[in-house]
Amino acid sequence: MSLTQVICFANNKGGSGKSTTCANVGYEMARAGRRVLLIDGDMQLNLTLSFFDEEAALTFVESGKTIYNAIRDQKDLAAFIVPTPYKGLDIIPSSTLMSSVEFELFPKWQREFILKKCLANVVASGTYDYILIDSPPTLGCWVMNIMCASKELIIPVEASPWGLFGLANMFDFVKQVQSIAPDIHLLGIAITKADERKKYFKQTLDTLGSYEGLTVFRTIVRIDSTIEWSQDNSKPVGEYKRSSRSAEEYANLAKEIMEYVSR
Ligand SMILES: Nc1ncnc2c1ncn2[C@@H]1O[C@H](COP(=O)(O)OP(=O)(O)OP(=O)(O)O)[C@@H](O)[C@H]1O
Ligand SMILES: [Mg+2]
Repeated sequence: MSLTQVICFANNKGGSGKSTTCANVGYEMARAGRRVLLIDGDMQLNLTLSFFDEEAALTFVESGKTIYNAIRDQKDLAAFIVPTPYKGLDIIPSSTLMSSVEFELFPKWQREFILKKCLANVVASGTYDYILIDSPPTLGCWVMNIMCASKELIIPVEASPWGLFGLANMFDFVKQVQSIAPDIHLLGIAITKADERKKYFKQTLDTLGSYEGLTVFRTIVRIDSTIEWSQDNSKPVGEYKRSSRSAEEYANLAKEIMEYVSR
């Protein structure tokens, strides 16, 4: 039995911190000695761009080494893995062509399970301790594929006035996915872009606290422009500025997630 843990980051609310959290948690897990594979599931390429500049990212697109090509042709994902500059951290890049992934999936047999099938050999090989998948801000067949291929789901939530908008939709969607893939488990909510001085920060915590049985991670990632600078430099924040508060927060969040989901 493989012990690779597959965790996805999803929230149909755009800009909630999915890609930032996926990239930095993955980096910190690898830094802590785990073997990690990241999968960029979004046509915006934000996860890919967290580690490579635009030119390199477009080279992956041109050479067909992307999640889009693998899904379209239903290929084993092992052939689409590229190393990042960091030890223990690999990635399957995304493509701008992911904009048409829903059309590619539509005519396929058991279309909700294409990613799971393409990922099966990589998971079974036990090469990685963790596989982290970044999702686009949608709730269609592709995100269903991402959840069906995962064991754990983390929902990054922005601590802002509209941050919780649509969360009920998210919970309904997860229930729908669980009807065809009962194993997917909502691990918890990761609060991102928090400003503790703002009234809505406390409101977000109170509202989330009112959902029975919902885990909210202890580690809260606060708003910090160092994150944006690191992304502008195509680096995880822990690499860009190790002494930053954000680097420490993401190291703590990764540790907390690994405590919940140990290999
Ligand atoms: N802790 C933070 N402090 C400051 N800015 C942040 C922080 N986290 C994320 N951001 C910024 O917020 C924006 C949205 O973050 P991110 O792209 O991770 O969200 P997302 O949920 O992946 O978005 P999308 O739904 O478009 O995929 C980005 O511009 C990012 O630089
Ligand atoms: Mg994103």
